[in-house]
Amino acid sequence: GAPSAAAASSSSPVLRRYYSSESAPERKVAVLGAAGGIGQPLALLMKLNPLVSKLSLYDIAGTPGVAADVGHINTRSEVSGYAGEDQLRQALEGCDVVIIPAGVPRKPGMTRDDLFNINAGIVQSLCTAIAKYCPHALVNMISNPVNSTVPIAAEVFKKAGTYDEKRLFGVTTLDVVRAKTFYAGKANVPVAKVNATPSANLADEDIKALTKRTQDGGTEVVEAKAGKGSATLSMAYAGALFADACLKGLNGVPDVVECSYVQSSITELPFFASKVRLGKNGVEEVLGLGPLSDFEKEGLEALKPELKSSIEKGIKFANQS
Ligand code: NAI
Repeated sequence: GAPSAAAASSSSPVLRRYYSSESAPERKVAVLGAAGGIGQPLALLMKLNPLVSKLSLYDIAGTPGVAADVGHINTRSEVSGYAGEDQLRQALEGCDVVIIPAGVPRKPGMTRDDLFNINAGIVQSLCTAIAKYCPHALVNMISNPVNSTVPIAAEVFKKAGTYDEKRLFGVTTLDVVRAKTFYAGKANVPVAKVNATPSANLADEDIKALTKRTQDGGTEVVEAKAGKGSATLSMAYAGALFADACLKGLNGVPDVVECSYVQSSITELPFFASKVRLGKNGVEEVLGLGPLSDFEKEGLEALKPELKSSIEKGIKFANQS
């Protein structure tokens, strides 16, 4: 028979969007460091996400402007800007997901230790507030060095008695985004389709070069920006992708799998980055590494000492005061 009016109208893109956002549960997402280089485009991308109902933008300064600007966009979420520590409570209360790109990126003349100490202190104080005001939120840590800031967050939460290893994530999605882009270029396959497949038979030298380019991706951007900052736009995209996966998991979408740096027993180290399956409580399953080539096995062993010391450094920092 002829399609009914209802069927015809529900296939309208406008109505479909209306129904899908109406049926998605209420979700509050906070961005801490929302006035920064990553924070601003990340706020924009989260404003475009129909799974978000409340978008909370927090920074030590500058967030009212970002919130007013982003808040004029006619998508589902209601946007609020919070500036200064006395507004942190309001920013965090009721959050389902908290994304943390707060901190300083490395600037010329700054040592790794300078960067570590500043960002470690910022992460420690923000996580203390999360433990108090939204202890059940999924925390997406972007602030560098992630290998240390995630263990710091874990220690802060343990002290507060709120630690749940299923809810703490180091965001490593930018490496995945870069690897897919560089791989697609080299293998000459459509970039949007790249995951573990389609596989191409790349020569060993090509695999080595791709691995190095992915590992040095941050430096490539820092050099191209010539002193004016580091990766912010691609990081915002990667952060938005990961937060979207967390929201889908919370909402019960099946088989949501992304890479993340989490508490892990797949190696002898207490934290490791691998694929994880996301669900209603955060990490549903930490997936293994799968079969590794000899090159990958070597790389795995070579990274361990540095990762181990980064984890220890974070734990020591969190327990020294
Ligand atoms: P930025 O300096 O442009 O922005 C940082 C923002 O954090 C600023 O707006 C600042 O006011 C804010 N902030 C500082 N202290 C704060 C506090 N106590 N509470 C709330 N906000 C605070 O830096 P950018 O480029 O946005 O980078 C942010 C962080 O992300 C850096 O640590 C950087 O190294 C890291 N990053 C991580 C990547 C990853 O793959 N996980 C990739 C690229 C950068």
